[in-house]
Amino acid sequence: MPEWLKTAIFYEIYPQSFKDSNGDGIGDFNGIIEKLDYIKDLGCNAIWMNPCYDSPFKDAGYDVRDYKKVAERYGTIEDLKRLFAEVHRRGMHILLDLVPGHTSEEHEWFAQSGKNEVNEYSNRYIWTDSWFQRAEGFPYIAGERERDGAYIINYFKCQPALNYGFLNPKEQWQKPIEHPDCLATRAAMVDVMCYWLKMGCDGFRVDMADSLVKGDDEVKSGTCRVWSDIIQQVQAKYPNAALVSEWNNPASAIGMAGFQMDFFLDWFGNGYNLLMRDYDKTGRDDSFFKKESKRSITNFLEEYLPKYEAIRNKGLYCLITGNHDMIRAAHNLDERELKLAYAFLFTMPGAPFIYYGDEIGMRYQNLPCKEGGYTRTGSRTPMQWDGSLNYGFSEAEQSSLYLPVDMEEGAPTVEAQQKNADSLYHTVRELLRVRKEQTAFSAHDNLNILFAQKGRRGFAYQRGNLIFMCNPSKSVEKLPVDLTEYEQIFAVGGGTKENGGYTLDAQSFVICRK
Ligand code: NOJ
Repeated sequence: MPEWLKTAIFYEIYPQSFKDSNGDGIGDFNGIIEKLDYIKDLGCNAIWMNPCYDSPFKDAGYDVRDYKKVAERYGTIEDLKRLFAEVHRRGMHILLDLVPGHTSEEHEWFAQSGKNEVNEYSNRYIWTDSWFQRAEGFPYIAGERERDGAYIINYFKCQPALNYGFLNPKEQWQKPIEHPDCLATRAAMVDVMCYWLKMGCDGFRVDMADSLVKGDDEVKSGTCRVWSDIIQQVQAKYPNAALVSEWNNPASAIGMAGFQMDFFLDWFGNGYNLLMRDYDKTGRDDSFFKKESKRSITNFLEEYLPKYEAIRNKGLYCLITGNHDMIRAAHNLDERELKLAYAFLFTMPGAPFIYYGDEIGMRYQNLPCKEGGYTRTGSRTPMQWDGSLNYGFSEAEQSSLYLPVDMEEGAPTVEAQQKNADSLYHTVRELLRVRKEQTAFSAHDNLNILFAQKGRRGFAYQRGNLIFMCNPSKSVEKLPVDLTEYEQIFAVGGGTKENGGYTLDAQSFVICRK
């Protein structure tokens, strides 16, 4: 694992909405450069930027038309190179977003693949042998191309699946993983990765990393085999390339495929979801960090711990404040609840990821779909920098902004929160400072749960010489944690040491050091 990953704190940038430097209403590379000092000062030392390649933007850029060209809306390749250089000049690192499972239907490979005559790209995508032959068990489309066949899609209709083969081919048209044409797809992806690493990026966040091989088994052994080969090839040339997978199965992603990091993703009702979102179709919300919640941290730990243990000494299982696919955290939690939730996320093992704007509690907005965002659109609105026009995001007319800014009263801004010592922004900044200063927080194999019990709201864990304790509830909680030899180094709220225990005030967390 590259050394810098061990202490990495990531900031995710949705480039459309971060900072518009040329007044056209959409964010760009030069805008990001302008704000690098802000990101660094907040305490982050690494960036993940969502796709910035040439695309028809039917899925916000996750529909790549040309892997080696940048989207004009964000600037030129020279601007991107300058972004890499400016990031590095500040001692920071940057990951691009790699979309290996599918392309846009407008990609040249797909144009070639859909032709009647056989060519180099005929098997770059997954086609059945005739237009009326269904691709059983997979979403597929027929009737769109000259070629007599139906093709599998990976996500939206605009995203035909690239062909990395089938684990156990059952039909004539299903190629084995080692088929030369599937190896050619692999080689093409290695080529794309090396192209950007050579240009100066430090690695990739990998989109739908588990989706490569079709007809795969439960642990995705086929996809793991393919990744392990791709990663070996890439790391032979770029040993320090950093890779984080969108997978949520570290035993496969880190243990078998060779990624160094994997995300704990938000899936309905899963351990992460119950912490901060816990929404279902009825609108009920019993998120653990809500003060009225009846939940215990065990709801999270039951899922987290086995996954963490599986890769304890091997890689990083990463917790996120949110991302471009999720409802913003501030939709469910108020400011105090967010402070507690973030304190937990930023003191756990794994590299933390902060979604832009979550540090000031940017709000989710109800918006119609933009570029395939659907319900995700409301989490992708322009960053709120200050009290000037469009909150300092852009000098464009309001009507030509990529997405509308938050027009409701009380919209948080960086400027206002910087002036208020009690703000969420300052708590985030302090927490990240503590994380950086206390080296036990950047060890990743030292999590020891001290107190977690069904039916109880408070919890505590130890990481080396540090103890983190939290009580998200409305009433005081006494935890059986002996802090005799410990001193408090950071807290929101507080508590009191008692014989052999610690009483935490309502809605408090405390970090102590031996
Ligand atoms: C996951 C990405 O995060 C999401 O935004 C995208 O729509 C799908 N993968 C398809 O690429």
